[in-house]
Amino acid sequence: MPETSNVDYSTKIPNNVGLMDDQRVLKALEQWHPGYIDWWMTMGPEGFQTSDVYLRTAISIDPKGWAKFDYVKMPDYRWGILLAPRQEDRRVNFGVHKDEKAWQEVPGEYRAMLRRLIVVQGDTEPASVEQQRHLGKTAPSLYDMRNLFQVNVEEGRHLWAMVYLLQKYFGKDGREEAEGLLQRRSGDQDRPRMLGAFNEETPDWLSFFMFTFFTDRDGKMQLESLAQSGFDPLSRTCRFMLTEEAHHMFVGETGVGRAIERTCQAMREAGIEDANDIDAVRKLGVIDLPTMQKKANLHFSLSLDLFGSEVSTNAANYYTSGVKGRFQETRIDDDHQLTKATYPVSKLMDGSIKMVEEPALTAINMRLRDDYVNDCLKGVQRWNKVIEKTGVNYRLRLPHVAFHRGIGEFANIHASPTGQILSEQEWARQKDQWLPAKADGDFIAGLMAPCWERGKFASWIAPPRVGIDNKPGDFEYVKVDRA
Ligand SMILES: [Fe+2]
Ligand SMILES: [Fe+2]
Repeated sequence: MPETSNVDYSTKIPNNVGLMDDQRVLKALEQWHPGYIDWWMTMGPEGFQTSDVYLRTAISIDPKGWAKFDYVKMPDYRWGILLAPRQEDRRVNFGVHKDEKAWQEVPGEYRAMLRRLIVVQGDTEPASVEQQRHLGKTAPSLYDMRNLFQVNVEEGRHLWAMVYLLQKYFGKDGREEAEGLLQRRSGDQDRPRMLGAFNEETPDWLSFFMFTFFTDRDGKMQLESLAQSGFDPLSRTCRFMLTEEAHHMFVGETGVGRAIERTCQAMREAGIEDANDIDAVRKLGVIDLPTMQKKANLHFSLSLDLFGSEVSTNAANYYTSGVKGRFQETRIDDDHQLTKATYPVSKLMDGSIKMVEEPALTAINMRLRDDYVNDCLKGVQRWNKVIEKTGVNYRLRLPHVAFHRGIGEFANIHASPTGQILSEQEWARQKDQWLPAKADGDFIAGLMAPCWERGKFASWIAPPRVGIDNKPGDFEYVKVDRA
């Protein structure tokens, strides 16, 4: 089958890239498949591999009606290779090759660069599945459990997407990298995943929602900039992945929003005015807002580290070569080569934080991070609307970009959430006010009792406004095996 907008389900690997006519790649993928299933069974969602889950599966790449919903056992999910349609006459849109025809094959000189970018992106996908594998057991509802599993199978598909590019365009070393993606493990001492945030634990559902809000949003920004790539197959793959990624951020934003809503309701009902009266709020069986702020501080700062150093020659090279662009590159009104432009970068100068103009080319990471922060800010404002509506006097905010950083300009200092630079002692004394402490984790862990009855929700989270696929409130999203 040639490339179309519909997906060929006649092969073991559903696809719209004409795999039937590409025996070499089909064979390579079929060889990789058992290892993938083995990884899914050992590292995927624990305890639910035989349950029927109401999942969406992509059946077309047409933006309208690309998915269908049905009960599927996760190991039977049809992971496939789906690329957005090829645009006639697409061009390289930035860098030294600007206006040349987009590349359908990997340019020799950029091979190592492209392989690196694809492997790093690919590595994050299975990592998050590994991080989330225990959460099904404490799901606050069948609705939430289903959303978790949906995110998990789609991250699995994103791994397939990157593996396809490696197998098709990078020969022997591509096949080795594809194997490596199944061998590293999140948090493993000897073979960790490649990026820091993907080796952290996701111990509870509030962490999961914060992770999908903050860290999947980093994924969105990376995919957006790779979707600009002059290497057309990478661009097309990322464009389709973004349609799935939107749901992950929906899960995060509404998950935190529903926890906030429930907390504020409980406070109102109990007549608690002071959101900082943590003990009183916790007695109601809900998560106090200051603890949510701490979790947001943690996940935001870990996610900022994923953007790398503010000033980076690697990022400049990716851009100049035309392999990785800026967020919404084609909508930006400039020369798309940036040979003379500058960009303001926040830097540590003589012990204080200042904005400094840097060449825009080396400040590419900073710019993407700024776009990310703005995107996060909009979500936080929507959370604050939820609080405001209930009349509770509290607002969530994003911490300063210098707070709790492990990479870049501020990696070697301590800063408060408002951006005040602190001594080692001051930091040690105050950090438990700003980041989840053991007692906070223990309290949240204590709330994480499973709630698997149809239409029921755990004490700490409000039901959603609408069901998935418009299903009614008591819909059985997961048929849990209770044997
Ligand atoms: Fe993903
Ligand atoms: Fe995602």
